[in-house]
Amino acid sequence: MYKNINKLLQQYQKKLTFLISSGPTKEYIDPVRFISNESSGKMGNALANAITRKGYRVIFISGPVNIFPRNVKLIKVTTALEMFKEIKLNFNKADIIISVAAVADYRPVKTYRHKIKKKKSLISIEFKQNPDIIKYCGKNKKNQVVVGFALETENLVNTAKIKLKNKKLDIVVANNKESFNSKVITAYIISNNNILEIKNKNKKFIAEKIIDETIRIFRNIASC
Ligand code: C5P
Repeated sequence: MYKNINKLLQQYQKKLTFLISSGPTKEYIDPVRFISNESSGKMGNALANAITRKGYRVIFISGPVNIFPRNVKLIKVTTALEMFKEIKLNFNKADIIISVAAVADYRPVKTYRHKIKKKKSLISIEFKQNPDIIKYCGKNKKNQVVVGFALETENLVNTAKIKLKNKKLDIVVANNKESFNSKVITAYIISNNNILEIKNKNKKFIAEKIIDETIRIFRNIASC
């Protein structure tokens, strides 16, 4: 009897699908210039690896980086609009959506076909806002868990809590700027009724904690 229940549980767990967006996006001004955000893709990789180690499926949408996880369905994109399109296409396949991507908040209104010549001493470029991808996920989720990240330079936890509420997320992982090129980081895994502080641990450790917490919340929602 217990063996059967365990087997059923295992089968159920095997079916979990995670949709991850990771890395930066690049928004081109002309064929060689772009605006972007600093992002190595390492945290996204650590998350994907933590998930596949547990035997779960990962659809991994990645902006331009040099490292990619293995054993995932990999979709490479460049711009925020391309990332948004892929998120929407794959949204219904996912039980858990994690946005660790450093999406550029703005894109140029116009992308020049040819390299802009260095003629004027002053030029201005108009930018318009990109869609907030994770906000779309929070708004449209159906029994899905949505996880976002918050990198802040001040009022870290409070700002993350506001993000959790405003974007209708289930978890916000908050860390500070010092985590950029550092091997060990301090992170706060913030959910509606819990704050988990993880001090000075590597990304692999933090990724595992995030995935455990995410699955715990998913199971809670699924059992309701
Ligand atoms: O509001 P802010 O950009 O600081 O929020 C960060 C979180 O939102 C991250 O999880 C990031 O991946 C996500 N995000 C997004 N689409 C944007 C901007 C941020 O999904 N256009």
